[in-house]
Amino acid sequence: MKPIIAPSVLASDFANLQSEVEMLNKSQADWLHVDVMDGRFVPNISFGFPVMEAIKRYAQKPLDVHLMIVEPEQYIERFRTAGADTITVHSEACTHLHRTVQQIQASGAKAGVALNPHTPVHLLEDIIAELDLVLIMSVNPGFGGQKFIENTYRKVEALKDLIIQRNSQALIEIDGGVNQDNARLLLEKGADALVAGSFVFSAADPLQTIAALKSSAK
Ligand code: DX5
Ligand code: ZN
Repeated sequence: MKPIIAPSVLASDFANLQSEVEMLNKSQADWLHVDVMDGRFVPNISFGFPVMEAIKRYAQKPLDVHLMIVEPEQYIERFRTAGADTITVHSEACTHLHRTVQQIQASGAKAGVALNPHTPVHLLEDIIAELDLVLIMSVNPGFGGQKFIENTYRKVEALKDLIIQRNSQALIEIDGGVNQDNARLLLEKGADALVAGSFVFSAADPLQTIAALKSSAK
């Protein structure tokens, strides 16, 4: 099976957002990854509803929204209204993760849970059966362009085992430092979806780079 490729709009040229989104429409990308940062959960601020709505106006592919914010439960319906197809919250940001996942699904969006590099996969064992997606952070969240953390491979293996053991339908998404060198091994270990920011947008030919990621085989 071919991987799902989700370029991160965070690395695009915000002054030319329409043409960047149109480039992604034409590409082999499956989803548009949208990184929302609040300056509290992570030490950086990206963008909020107005920018996301602008992306949605032109996007012809699902929006995969990654919330790096505290108290995400306060904004689920607004992100859904702004056009989110999948809403991923951080396990570290949710005291009542199960309730928040139910809230996301009730909004009509698919529900994802993200894990920081230090957060073990087994923490999800009592919720994995209800998740649509698990996002494994392969860098510390907050910035694009960071170096991939090698321990991620072990986490993908552990998560794949857990998913099989609990008969879960959850997809495994990897976010941070993904490139042509690590894509294949990530897929071999069980990843389904790859986020790529700087690797795509700093490439001379983003369309070709997306196509190359898409054809990375397991
Ligand atoms: C980091 C974000 C990532 C980031 C990925 O906090 O969640 O989605 O945009 O960018 P690269 O691929 O450059 O690491
Ligand atoms: Zn992200």
